Amino acid sequence: MKQKLIAPSVLSADFGNLQRDIEMINNSSGDWFHVDVMDGRFVPNISFGFPVLKTVKQHAKKFIDVHLMIVEPEKYIDQFVDAGADLVSIHYEASTHLHRSLYQIKDRGAKAGVVLNPATPVSLLQDIITDADLVLLMSVNPGFGGQSFIENTYRKLEELKNLIGSRNASALIQIDGGVNADNARLLFSAGADVLVAGNAVFSADDPMAMISRLKS
Ligand code: DX5
Ligand code: ZN
Repeated sequence: MKQKLIAPSVLSADFGNLQRDIEMINNSSGDWFHVDVMDGRFVPNISFGFPVLKTVKQHAKKFIDVHLMIVEPEKYIDQFVDAGADLVSIHYEASTHLHRSLYQIKDRGAKAGVVLNPATPVSLLQDIITDADLVLLMSVNPGFGGQSFIENTYRKLEELKNLIGSRNASALIQIDGGVNADNARLLFSAGADVLVAGNAVFSADDPMAMISRLKS
């Protein structure tokens, strides 16, 4: 059955009031906490690491989705799961031994996701699609919140849906970057299961209402 989940991105939260923003997500119709970890090497920005994830874990009452935008993610998988990740997604472009890393995540008891940058073709997933619990298509170049949605994502989404269907795979499809009230409906109807939203939620006058709007 298709899911329609919203994952507000903590990256756009107010870190001076992090607990307040976490409670807002707890009380909203949002489904997951999306946690963006950036290392300043894989992407040209540094966000946060374990202490912030542990704080999210301490207060969050929902599923925690950790998006690692770091080189050599395999070195830190165990620590991220121990710090509270229910799902760990790693970039195809950063993973030399992707199959091994996905099973490292699963063996630790978490769900395992693969992320593709906008320029990385979906066809590269054909020999790993049945091993992934989720595929995240980046709809912006990773590194920053608040960027514009790349329209070619719709074509990739269609291709990914077909790949999942042809292999009888069960991976969820997640879209991350530039999701807003104008494109959410189209993305869900095109087959997305989980939409990440940072800027759209946290720059809204009423973030909880925006989450409900994106979801419906
Ligand atoms: C970008 C991050 C996103 C980001 C999305 O590198 O992976 O999760 O928070 O932010 P918006 O929704 O603002 O584009
Ligand atoms: Zn993300």
